Amino acid sequence: IFNPGGPLRVRTVDLRSDTVTKPGAAMRRAMAEAHVGDDVFGEDLTVNELQKRAADIFGMEAALFVPSGTMSNLIAVMVHCSERGDEMIVGDLAHQHVYEQGGSAQVAGVHSTTVSTQSDGTFHLDEVESKIRHGYPKVHFTRSRLVCVENTHNLRGGRVLPLSFLHELRSLADRYGLAVHMDGARLMNAAVALGVSPSVILQHCHTVSVGLSKGLGAPMGTMLGGSKDFVERAVRVRQALGGGLRQLGIQATAGILALTDMVGRLKEDHRRARIFAQALKECDPPLYEVNMASVETNILRFRLNDPRLSPAEFCQRAATVCENELQVLGHGVRVLMFHNAWGSIRAVFHLDISDDDAQVAVEKLHFLARQVAEQRGKLW
Ligand SMILES: Cc1ncc(COP(=O)(O)O)c(C=O)c1O
Repeated sequence: IFNPGGPLRVRTVDLRSDTVTKPGAAMRRAMAEAHVGDDVFGEDLTVNELQKRAADIFGMEAALFVPSGTMSNLIAVMVHCSERGDEMIVGDLAHQHVYEQGGSAQVAGVHSTTVSTQSDGTFHLDEVESKIRHGYPKVHFTRSRLVCVENTHNLRGGRVLPLSFLHELRSLADRYGLAVHMDGARLMNAAVALGVSPSVILQHCHTVSVGLSKGLGAPMGTMLGGSKDFVERAVRVRQALGGGLRQLGIQATAGILALTDMVGRLKEDHRRARIFAQALKECDPPLYEVNMASVETNILRFRLNDPRLSPAEFCQRAATVCENELQVLGHGVRVLMFHNAWGSIRAVFHLDISDDDAQVAVEKLHFLARQVAEQRGKLW
């Protein structure tokens, strides 16, 4: 960062992820005062309360507190695909497939077959059907057991799976005796965007992982929901993975607040993502490619329409303040964003991003677009 001698007039707007939030004063107070017990003994009443509430919200028989979304998805795979030679069907751009280190293969020994993730996060159902193995129990074939979906879909820019898709997928799964698991790390964003309760979405799923530490702002945890029998088996797998925790009420209190107090405000994140997206779309000179129809929740993915500027270099520039920026804007803004291997840049809105943060981030990105255009004029 350029430091012009005096105190830095620089602020940071962190749009890398909705996991960068800090618990607020009310959540911290509640955590400090939480009742705790030994949850491996089933004696932490706060955890029991959280699990009951989550199950009610999901419209499922039971729910289980799990340390992370990655572990929760893995437990779901291990419970659904519990015999050697079982197979799961998963989207090629699913977090489970791309970003969880192949845990289902590495740890669980479960084989995956992929289907193409459409731009709205759905699959073509005929492709799903074509991936179901029909040869079992002949010795050459795996046995298809599970289909996994992601809602909202991270790599597709926070897209919300349509209820009609979920309904049809479930009918297909039922026809072949497959389970449907939803990686609902951001399920609450989907519910808010659709204006329905989570149980309306989850009526089409056997099991779900719902994150507490993303848009909902708790410091840790994912709720794994399903039938009573599924959760009983999940408790055993969680213990084997080292995810059985002891005085967990401190975190569970935050989880209760996350599910009760933090869902209503998600629409604010969605609104800011749209305003930000629209501002990038309207930027003059036009550096940003944005599909407004795809901005449904708190995640925006956009591209650069100048192939000479790589997403990596762009993110580096956005995160850096130069002397010229201080002179032109009168202040400096570091906008933190991630780019990915597919060439898109991700900006995620969350509870620590205000209207003003979004506004100064827009100013910075407009400034960068002008800077790129000027440099282009000079160099080319
Ligand atoms: C869609 C999705 N699924 C699962 C996870 C994993 O959650 P965790 O970081 O709690 O392991 C993430 C994390 O960002 C995610 O975005």
